[in-house]
Amino acid sequence: MLRRQIISGLAAVAAGALLAGPAFAQDTVKVGLILPMTGPFTSTGKQIEAAVKLYMQQNGDTVAGKKIEVILKDDGGVADATKRLAQELVVNDKVSFIAGFGLTPLAMASAPIATQAKVPMVVMAAGTSTITEASPFIARTSFTTAQSAYVMGVWATKNGIKKVVTLVTDYAPGIDAEKGFTEPFKNAGGTVVESLRVPLQNPDFAPFLQRVRDAKPDALYVFVPSGVGSVLMKQFVERGLDKSGIKLIGPGDVVDDDILNSFGDAALGAITAHLYSAAHPSEKNKAYVEAFKKANPGMRPNFMSVGGYDGMHLIYEALKKTGGATDGAKLIEAMKGMGWESPRGPISIDPETRDIVQNIYIRKVEKVDGELYNVEFDAFEEVKDPVKAAKKK
Ligand code: PHB
Repeated sequence: MLRRQIISGLAAVAAGALLAGPAFAQDTVKVGLILPMTGPFTSTGKQIEAAVKLYMQQNGDTVAGKKIEVILKDDGGVADATKRLAQELVVNDKVSFIAGFGLTPLAMASAPIATQAKVPMVVMAAGTSTITEASPFIARTSFTTAQSAYVMGVWATKNGIKKVVTLVTDYAPGIDAEKGFTEPFKNAGGTVVESLRVPLQNPDFAPFLQRVRDAKPDALYVFVPSGVGSVLMKQFVERGLDKSGIKLIGPGDVVDDDILNSFGDAALGAITAHLYSAAHPSEKNKAYVEAFKKANPGMRPNFMSVGGYDGMHLIYEALKKTGGATDGAKLIEAMKGMGWESPRGPISIDPETRDIVQNIYIRKVEKVDGELYNVEFDAFEEVKDPVKAAKKK
């Protein structure tokens, strides 16, 4: 009797294990989110984390019958750490997606892991054009730096800017920013009198800004990665460039909504081309900004946040399309060609390149209700990455 009880007990445990094991594994879909939550690019990490949380708060944590679990890891903005974390998330945590990637080197280091593991990699921040070519499992919801750079180059010549000094951070997206602007600008008759490049780590802009003052261009075209704009603007004012009549133009990273308010009046009048402004006048964005601020007191959403928000949307919608199946190839296939309305405006994932197609707006820094905003006044619609478009020709 006792023996029979023990045996049936064991059988019940075994059956329970069989049922609970795979059922649990199937019912949870894990997303490994790797972001710089410490170090000089913390603002990118915080913005994206806040947006991912907001998306889940608004849309629930169950998709196609699966519970979504986000595992957040801090890479401190260091590529070796990103790669190690991506590997651990794939191998140990068995995530179905890796996402985040605050800077280009971090995305590039992780791409081979996505390829080997056949795990979709959603790039929510990094902006170098070539990133999507580094793995067939990458889709991007952020931007390419060249999208904004190119639009600025086209816009500048048509708006009386003839002589420019370019100043970019010396790494891949900075080079994209320099080239993306210079080519259309020169083709339309503009002159670049100097092309300056500043190191990524601990940048000191002062000596470069002095050279800009001496060169007396119509405009200083600047690209610095998100968060670094404060250092630049401080030195811009210290060197008196705000009173020199030299216009500040560039992709919008330098006047990022997260830090723009701290710049003071020196930033007024800066004209940039970019994918997102907290002042974007759509109903969808008004609701987004309000909900974001409510959930994160003291913060204002910037262009990095929408990369995170839309990245989660892409993950949710891909899972809906596969009926909850987590096969990596099927998920990437499901992402191709998907389009929706983002807080930034209409966006889609180019089915050929898996890169984002979006409007790029021309904006001017103005004071609205006592706060500084990038106020949009013109738009280039459905801009594809110009670097990949040029390669195709
Ligand atoms: C990048 O490293 O790709 C990057 C980071 C921040 C930006 C733009 C590009 O604002």
